[in-house]
Amino acid sequence: MVAQAFGIDIGGSGIKGAPVNLETGELATERVRIPTPQPSTPKAVAKTVAKLLDEFGDQAKDMPIGITVPCPVINGITPAMANLDKQWIGCAAADVMTSVVGRPITLLNDADAAGLAEVYFGAAKGHKGLVIVTTLGTGIGSALIYGGVLIPNSELGHLEIDGFDAEKRAAASIRTNEDLSWKAYIKRLQRYYETLDFLFSPDMFVVGGGISRDADKFLPFLKLNASIVPAQLRNQAGIVGAAWYAHQAQASSPTRSPQG
Ligand code: BGC
Repeated sequence: MVAQAFGIDIGGSGIKGAPVNLETGELATERVRIPTPQPSTPKAVAKTVAKLLDEFGDQAKDMPIGITVPCPVINGITPAMANLDKQWIGCAAADVMTSVVGRPITLLNDADAAGLAEVYFGAAKGHKGLVIVTTLGTGIGSALIYGGVLIPNSELGHLEIDGFDAEKRAAASIRTNEDLSWKAYIKRLQRYYETLDFLFSPDMFVVGGGISRDADKFLPFLKLNASIVPAQLRNQAGIVGAAWYAHQAQASSPTRSPQG
């Protein structure tokens, strides 16, 4: 029987989940999406997660569960939060989830999950060097993966560049909100990626987030030492990476994940 785990991706507008086939990195069945509750407190989100799992009934019963959050995760605690309710700040979020859902939960950062999915199943599959996966969305998420090993919580969307928090200049949402032309936006992306290129000398950048659908409008124009390619798993990367990570965590310790 093919190993499966359950992945859930928590975003500002929706909570999406599905069982994942860990051999292929594909969703084992269609995903379910429930709108993120407002206010999006940890408890309210945990209840929505429980509801989502209920929709899968027995199918998800014995699977490890991995959940992404749009913030760093340190030993199951979420020390900061930009795009969900402020009650997440300093919250023992993995414990809250585990007690509401009634099963062990492995939490990880959303971009870290997307990064793992791209390195194990997507655009950087099998890459042995340093891969930086960035997600361009409401903010900028980042994952640093070297030799297939994740260095978690890199938060490179918050690098200060030219006096600005990078994601406040170069996130996909900024292009929409400031109504930037592709030319103007490419200039900002060039500044962002050339800074990462200089600081980390990665072998490869993978660019995810909804905007990666339009990759041909901006990626070919970026001049970098590292190669830069669009993500392949698109909006499933978070679910797939979370499931993969939960499976690894459970395999290394059946009761405790590496992150709590
Ligand atoms: C957060 C990151 C997150 C990214 C994408 C940033 O604002 O600090 O933790 O990965 O947004 O959601």
